[in-house]
Amino acid sequence: MTAKVSVTLTVNGETHQGAVEPRLSLVDFLRQDLELTGSHIGCEMGACGACLVLVDDRPVHACLMFAVQAEGSTVETVEGLTERGALADLQAAFRDRNALQCGFCTPGMLASAYAILARGGVPSRDQIRDALSGNYCRCTGYEAIVDAIEATARTRAAAHAQALRPQARLPDEARP
Ligand code: FES
Ligand code: FES
Repeated sequence: MTAKVSVTLTVNGETHQGAVEPRLSLVDFLRQDLELTGSHIGCEMGACGACLVLVDDRPVHACLMFAVQAEGSTVETVEGLTERGALADLQAAFRDRNALQCGFCTPGMLASAYAILARGGVPSRDQIRDALSGNYCRCTGYEAIVDAIEATARTRAAAHAQALRPQARLPDEARP
C-alpha cells in the first residue's frame, strides 16, 4: 500500500488539510473527499473538459492533476464560483439561450467561460470557440453556448463602459 501524503490547499475559500494517496486526482479529491460533485468526470484523459476547475485562477483539467500537485494552491469549483455570484449573469444567459440540456458539460463550460470573460472586452465568436476547444458538449451543438458567452461579454462590457462615463452635469440648482 502506498503511503499517504499530506496536502493543504484552499478550495472555494476554505483551507483543507488531509492525507491522500499520491495518485489521487484532484477531481477525485474534490468529489470524494470534499463532496464537491459539481465538477464532473467524463474521459479522465483531459479531452472532454467536464472536470475543469480554476487553480490559482487558471482553468485546469482536474482529472490530469494529482491532488498533491495542488499543494498550497487556491482552487475554485463551480460551487465556489456560484456561491460568490461570479457566474450569476452567465448562468442566466445559459438558461435564457438554452445553452444547457443534460448539463453534464455545463460545470466545465462555465469554468472555461469564466476564464474567457475574466480577460475583459468582447471576444469574437471564433475566439470563444477556440477557448472552448477543450470542452465537449454532446447536446447543444455549441451555438447556444457561444451565444450565451458572447451576450454576457457584451452586457458586462456595456456596464463597464457605463460605469466609466463622466457623471452627467447636475443642474445649477442641484449643485451644493
Ligand atoms: S474528465 Fe477531465 S477532461 Fe474529461
Ligand atoms: S448539455 Fe449535455 S453534454 Fe453539454
